[in-house]
Amino acid sequence: MRAALLLVVTVLVGTVVSVDVWWESAVVYQIYPRSFKDSNGDGVGDLNGIKEKLPYLKDLGVDAIWLSPIFKSPMRDFGYDITDYKEISSEYGTMADFDALMAEAKRIGIRVILDYVPNHTSPESDWFQRSALSESKYKDYYIWANGTVDSTGARSPPNNWVSVFRKSAWEWHPTRLQYYLHQFAIGQPDLNYRNADVRQEMKDVLHFWLKKGVSGFRMDAVNFIYEVDPAKFGGKYPNEAPIGSVATDEYDSVNHTYTKDLDETYNVIFDWRALLDEYTTQHNENKLMVTEAYTSLPMMMRYYGNATRTGSVPFNFVYLESINSTSDANGLKSAIDAWMTNMPAGKVANWVNGNHDQKRMATRYGEKRVDAMNMLALILPGLSFTYQGEELGMTDDMIPWASTLDPQACNTEDPLQYWRVSRDPARSPFHWDDSVFAGFSNGSSTWLPVASNYRTVNVAVQRAMYKSHYNFYKDMVALKHGPALKSGKLETHVLGSNVFIVTRLTSNQKEGIIGIINLSGLSYQVDITQMSGVTKELTVVASGVDCIVSKGDKTAKSDIRLSGYCAMVLQNAGQRLIYSFTVYFAIYFLYVNLA
Ligand code: NOJ
Repeated sequence: MRAALLLVVTVLVGTVVSVDVWWESAVVYQIYPRSFKDSNGDGVGDLNGIKEKLPYLKDLGVDAIWLSPIFKSPMRDFGYDITDYKEISSEYGTMADFDALMAEAKRIGIRVILDYVPNHTSPESDWFQRSALSESKYKDYYIWANGTVDSTGARSPPNNWVSVFRKSAWEWHPTRLQYYLHQFAIGQPDLNYRNADVRQEMKDVLHFWLKKGVSGFRMDAVNFIYEVDPAKFGGKYPNEAPIGSVATDEYDSVNHTYTKDLDETYNVIFDWRALLDEYTTQHNENKLMVTEAYTSLPMMMRYYGNATRTGSVPFNFVYLESINSTSDANGLKSAIDAWMTNMPAGKVANWVNGNHDQKRMATRYGEKRVDAMNMLALILPGLSFTYQGEELGMTDDMIPWASTLDPQACNTEDPLQYWRVSRDPARSPFHWDDSVFAGFSNGSSTWLPVASNYRTVNVAVQRAMYKSHYNFYKDMVALKHGPALKSGKLETHVLGSNVFIVTRLTSNQKEGIIGIINLSGLSYQVDITQMSGVTKELTVVASGVDCIVSKGDKTAKSDIRLSGYCAMVLQNAGQRLIYSFTVYFAIYFLYVNLA
């Protein structure tokens, strides 16, 4: 973690200006616009709905919101299939609505991060339409290839590449009379990054939104940007090697050596980072660039940059990939250590408990671990990402096959097994209150059904409770903005297999923070006398729903009462002790001298 929170920029005239690298210890809240708040009763969330709820987010304390794609799209993959990168989807509102949202967010001090989807567009985009017609400028904007025709005249795709959403990654185009590559849905043709015009067009998109004042981008599926150069294979795209004896329709049945994690990817990322940096001085803020790549840890780490180029913050998917509802204290420790020890020196860590592609955090880790996992996202150094609803412990409901919309689930064509990969449950509407449709919409239906527990798991109920996931989350966010969680030294401790402790101590003892998690239903009396830098007496500053202690309670370092599944945060009481000692000494001094 960088020692300084300020980036010093020397401007041309030679004066030194400090620019806030605001994201180094920020909370970024992911909004899935379709499901956050519907302002016009059509059952789909929209920009005005988000604007209406900005006070909620301000009160929660988040620093920035990341909006999943809000651009013009036929919604085959719910906005990750973009027709025009510079237009707002009419379902979500207008450009004027976006400008109004930006203005209001800026006024109240919340930054806006947009989703940037560089790998693919919609086939409805002007670029694709022109490419399909082989117009000279656009001819190579996408990955086109000839298929093969057998003796019976039957056509088959150029090779065995498989889509992330199953089946061939190639789709025949009847006008162009060639196949186009789509590593995701058929409605998401891959752009060709070996074409300089494509690279320039995509840079223009970044400039467009930066000029509107956005504070950064979450960049989608970046490790899919490049495919192997066919020139190296006699002008053909080679087959990928099957993992088992044969390749099947499943994405994991082949090794994606030619379609994923290619070396060229990193230079594009570094170029985009440099582009974002052009706005640092002008906007007096360093832009956030966070990249999405589900890949091996070493490949993730390469996104951070190298000795000569600055890179992005790669999403940390270690929790998602290695933690589950049965992980013990050692499991948590190794997940955290994996990131912290592999991260290049001086870079910023980040913590992700969920997103719109994963089972909700409470469903994946278990409802009893909601406070623990929220604590871990917020107590560790660096950026914390929260997917909407994690602050409430929202859970996934089963969504019937007949109502299933996610292309990843629909592509299974299997009414019995689709739910295993369906991302719809995590995308159901946000729960504001216990009114009809959970206060999300006042229309007559919602695009996905509202989860059945909305009457008890919602903002209004949890705000009113003395202890709730919401209140605990909010306390954690407030602590995150304090000195210990910004810059305190990180240490993790495992006590047996069920108790996990995180300390963030600074040279100013009174600021020290100690987070304690009980992963089991058993009660413990914890003694941390041996832990240096921790004062004898401690104050509870955040207490999860399962703790017997409450915020404001005092506890001795030698006798911490930890009820089953309790997640609590304690603060050193150094200040009070030193203060009391000084006061007693002053009284004694006056007494002795005046008596
Ligand atoms: C990752 C996005 O998060 C996901 O929702 C989408 O389906 C794929 N990328 C393709 O854009």
